Amino acid sequence: MTTRRDFLIGASAGLTALGTRALAQDQPAATQLPAEMWDDDALPSRHPVVISTWRHGVPANDRAWQVLDAGGRALDAVEQGVRVAEADPEVTSVGYGGRPDREGHVTLDSCIMDETGNAGSVAFLQECMHPISVARKVMEETPHVMLVGEGARRFADTQGFLRQDLLTDKARADWQEWLKTAKYEPWSRPSNPALERASGHDTISMLAVDRSGHLSGACTTSGLAYKMHGRVGDSPIIGAALFVDDEVGAAAATGVGEEVMKTVGSFLIVELMRQGATPEEACREGVARIVRKNPQWRDVQVGYLAVNRKGRVGAYALQPGFQFAVTGYEGDTTRLVDVASELED
Ligand code: GLY
Repeated sequence: MTTRRDFLIGASAGLTALGTRALAQDQPAATQLPAEMWDDDALPSRHPVVISTWRHGVPANDRAWQVLDAGGRALDAVEQGVRVAEADPEVTSVGYGGRPDREGHVTLDSCIMDETGNAGSVAFLQECMHPISVARKVMEETPHVMLVGEGARRFADTQGFLRQDLLTDKARADWQEWLKTAKYEPWSRPSNPALERASGHDTISMLAVDRSGHLSGACTTSGLAYKMHGRVGDSPIIGAALFVDDEVGAAAATGVGEEVMKTVGSFLIVELMRQGATPEEACREGVARIVRKNPQWRDVQVGYLAVNRKGRVGAYALQPGFQFAVTGYEGDTTRLVDVASELED
């Protein structure tokens, strides 16, 4: 007889996992994801654990795991973790090295949420290496949740964040190349969707459960490449790209932010887990909501990640190609996991 646990593992067929050494060689070694990751009421709680979006989540998870393994707070882990991607010039969708908007400005969206339900966020922030840390300052040092644009930048000045040019020579050259054929559509749809889906360049969202069983999450991005100046995506919107409820679990998003915002995806997923859905079932319904609402869903990518308060994880995406990094199962090795999707390869 097929058990609930068999079904959940089967639903995730095609999962691959690899350690950081395999990553460096860019030769993924296919192995089965441990069954213990998936939700089963009979299984004991498993934490600490940290999960994050895409391949750039691997070094970010490794940093977050240092915090968790030392007994640190999930909030510190997710902040420290995503800062790795923010500072990496090779990551072209987050922070330094991120692709600019159509006018050549790198504009940043970030948010953070802790185990008490506190949240902080910045949107349309410029010239700042670590928007996630500014978001945390908004949460901890102001009575507000969200600061945007020049106001966010001036607040960052008061908190000691240097003004730094984030547009690398490579990102500038790519933008100048794009300008030659740009049609200035409302947003830049990838010319080769299959290629873009597979490239894994998007928001880093990270969720963690610490040794005490408390949850936090963080999300940070430079947003869609060559977006309209002033465009803000889902990444700084609490409930859209990120939601944490310590009593239930946490969820986070990556992909085309407009679709996530219109369905308030992360809040929806946490509420579904509150009603008894596993993390993967909840992510599947988050994706299904977009499919039902948007007839053009085949043209966009959205991926969701979730973790419940027991430390069980799940994910699901619209398109193939979405991966997430997970640390905290089978020793300290960070694994990169292929995620099942609505549209098959
Ligand atoms: N999810 C990132 C964005 O849409 O900006």
